[in-house]
Amino acid sequence: MAPGRFITLEGGEGAGKSTLARSLADRVEALGLRVSVTREPGGSPKAEAIREAILSGRVKQHGAFVEALMFSAARIDHIDRLIRPALQRGEWVICDRFIDSTRVYQGALGRIDAGLLAELEAVTIDGLMPDLTLILDLDPTIGLARAARRRAPGEGSDRFESETLAFHRTLRQAYLAIAEREPSRCVVLDAAQPPAVLAQAAWTAIRERLPAPQVA
Ligand code: TMP
Repeated sequence: MAPGRFITLEGGEGAGKSTLARSLADRVEALGLRVSVTREPGGSPKAEAIREAILSGRVKQHGAFVEALMFSAARIDHIDRLIRPALQRGEWVICDRFIDSTRVYQGALGRIDAGLLAELEAVTIDGLMPDLTLILDLDPTIGLARAARRRAPGEGSDRFESETLAFHRTLRQAYLAIAEREPSRCVVLDAAQPPAVLAQAAWTAIRERLPAPQVA
């Protein structure tokens, strides 16, 4: 059986990750391969419940480390229930956010010690690193405006969308720093491009980075 592939999409708010995930999944399926599209926090019933608690802002009062623990608890369940079983069946998994979101949002912005966060990450993922991480890079003023447009009337911004522009600028730089440190895993894509152009660039990166006989 061909090995499954694990691709994660990362970036700030409104960068177009979920649209890109669907478009890439269509391309993978068109090759006759099975693919699961999923997201973090979430992707399993327990993790979706944790998502609701964090994004409502109820956990914020306990600080960034508790938020990191909760994102990690959600991730452990998501990996156990969905990601590892799918990969073991030889399927592809495209995940909207994963470890780099914790590194950036809780680490770089929540100012949690990088060593402590790295230990938490190691325990959480237990060796399950993404094969490829696509980082969608976008000016946060554009991303936040997009995120505001997609909200339902009367719906407020969530726990992280409501942070300052300075927060979102730091976040962008932190993602770029990860890409610089881990060039063999990460590819930075210009998310200001139209969705179809972005999807083509992402697909080209997948073909280059994950040369598998089945990716024509
Ligand atoms: P979204 O991906 O639906 O936009 O919402 C998830 C939010 O949670 C987003 O603001 C990023 C944040 N987040 C973290 O702070 N740490 C994490 O580990 C993950 C997965 C997400």
